[in-house]
Amino acid sequence: MTEPHSPRRILEFLAAAGVDMVVGDEPVNRLQPPPAVPEREAEAHPARPAPANAAPPPSSPAIRAAPPAPDDAIMQARLQARSATSLEELATIMAAFDGCALKATASRLVFADGNPKARVMIIGEAPGREEDETGKPFVGRAGQLLDKMLKAIGLDRNGVYIANVVPWRPPGNRTPTPQEVAICLPFIHRQIELAGPEFLLTMGAPATQNLTGRRDGILRLRGQWFDVEVAERKIPTLATLHPAYLLRQPGQKALAWRDLRALRARLAAE
Ligand code: URA
Repeated sequence: MTEPHSPRRILEFLAAAGVDMVVGDEPVNRLQPPPAVPEREAEAHPARPAPANAAPPPSSPAIRAAPPAPDDAIMQARLQARSATSLEELATIMAAFDGCALKATASRLVFADGNPKARVMIIGEAPGREEDETGKPFVGRAGQLLDKMLKAIGLDRNGVYIANVVPWRPPGNRTPTPQEVAICLPFIHRQIELAGPEFLLTMGAPATQNLTGRRDGILRLRGQWFDVEVAERKIPTLATLHPAYLLRQPGQKALAWRDLRALRARLAAE
């Protein structure tokens, strides 16, 4: 029988809890007490209070890298997003932005895929593991289903532009917190504004709710058109089910198919 605290059992527990990555390169034993100062040395150099005008001690990298307080981070995100004059500039600004704690655990920014000039912009929730590895949205299993859904209405990645509300992978694919979303929203708004699509297709509850401001569940919201106002322009936005949900509930694919046909009809009509 395996010991309850054996490394194997601990790893199994962590994997079941969704921990699938390490944050630092070197393991840190936080239970180990700091090395004791030899008694004679401590006597020879007793700790003295620093003079009032002394410079602060150099901060550790962790302290220097601490993200700004959330309100501050939202403000910085707004200012920085507004300063971008092109999608390329926006991507560079976002890659350098340290206000969202998700950046510290993600491997990279997942900015966009597809054609920024497309008539349709698709917006998901946040990158998963494969997206984090490749830097492209919707490339895992959900993305493969999305490709099939697009093909069914005569589109492919060259006919759409794809991004997420949150561009960094949340650890273990957890749902991003409202605070993380609030910090990232100015960026996706600016990305929509700079791409200037005719239509938005929001996939799943988080993307739909955060862009439309509606709070109903996705099964109520899907199939409905909303106006999402971005920089004083109202963009017709269709809500649909997330492909990851459809992988778990294939019986609901008929509903998504109905939504996609509605999008196709609107594209043909306008
Ligand atoms: N799910 C999303 O919402 N976005 C991705 O990019 C991948 C999976």
